[in-house]
Amino acid sequence: MNDSCLDQSVRRPVSSGLRLARIISEATTNPGGQPVISPRAFPKALLTTAIPKRWLADRVVATHLANGVNLLFPAGERFFVRSVRKLAAKLPKGDPLHEDVKGFAAQEGHHAGAHEVVFEVLQAQGYDIKTFLGVYEKLAFGVIEPIAPPSLRLAVTAACEHFTAVMAENFLTRMQSIPMDESMRALLAWHSVEEIEHRAVAFDVFQKVDGRYEVRMAGLAVAAVLLAGFWVAATATLLAQEDAPLRALQKERHELKEDQPFSDRVFGRGIREYVRRDFHPLTNKRVDDLASAQVATFAWHSANDSRQM
Ligand SMILES: [Fe+2]
Ligand SMILES: [Fe+2]
Repeated sequence: MNDSCLDQSVRRPVSSGLRLARIISEATTNPGGQPVISPRAFPKALLTTAIPKRWLADRVVATHLANGVNLLFPAGERFFVRSVRKLAAKLPKGDPLHEDVKGFAAQEGHHAGAHEVVFEVLQAQGYDIKTFLGVYEKLAFGVIEPIAPPSLRLAVTAACEHFTAVMAENFLTRMQSIPMDESMRALLAWHSVEEIEHRAVAFDVFQKVDGRYEVRMAGLAVAAVLLAGFWVAATATLLAQEDAPLRALQKERHELKEDQPFSDRVFGRGIREYVRRDFHPLTNKRVDDLASAQVATFAWHSANDSRQM
């Protein structure tokens, strides 16, 4: 993805050249019931400056909570791929997990690229995101990553993948009842489906190459602290650039109540499930049905759009 491509994508009207076609034949589980990890193209041209500043329910705080985690995705997902690939190299030749790792890496690469287009949208809307991204990337990937041993990095990734799977389930369950910009709805639905499909890959690689419960728990602790900390910082950075009075922002924050991710909805539930010694990401089969139903609505087919990923 080059800069000129990004530049065009934020200016191009939503309707230009995109044909929508229904794809109903794509299953998300194989005959054995395991998720199929199938990377899909997402049409970047959907992500334009037509996206309103308050794209989520016309709310400032809710929108910036979503924008905040968006800022964490690209560098975070590239870290996940590095962590998994590093230790997947220790798996025996012919292990079926090698194919899963390939699908996982391809999906995360697509996600990172798509969420970087949202960076361009945010900048076109007038937000300074470079300062936050500079600090986040330097601290997380220039300082913390090099000093953490590979097993811990993979354990952190496996825990983050569980948090993203919980977020994906929440989103797919409630996405139709929450008003939001349709392009962002499509982006998050696509990302959610693929997070559900590959939710067990990092965990399974970790279990095969290490498998120590205490390392898995250390990964959970580091993942929870870093994800929550950077997410709060990213959201606060964006909110600080708003003209809205503090009282109005506080009112919105109170209205969110349990809908904000730092409650039981993401972190509480995610930690409670993950600490179980017999936890496995594929135990929760309900999410496969949610993902399958959503795949049937993926409708992007654009022969003329050269910027699909
Ligand atoms: Fe992702
Ligand atoms: Fe993921």
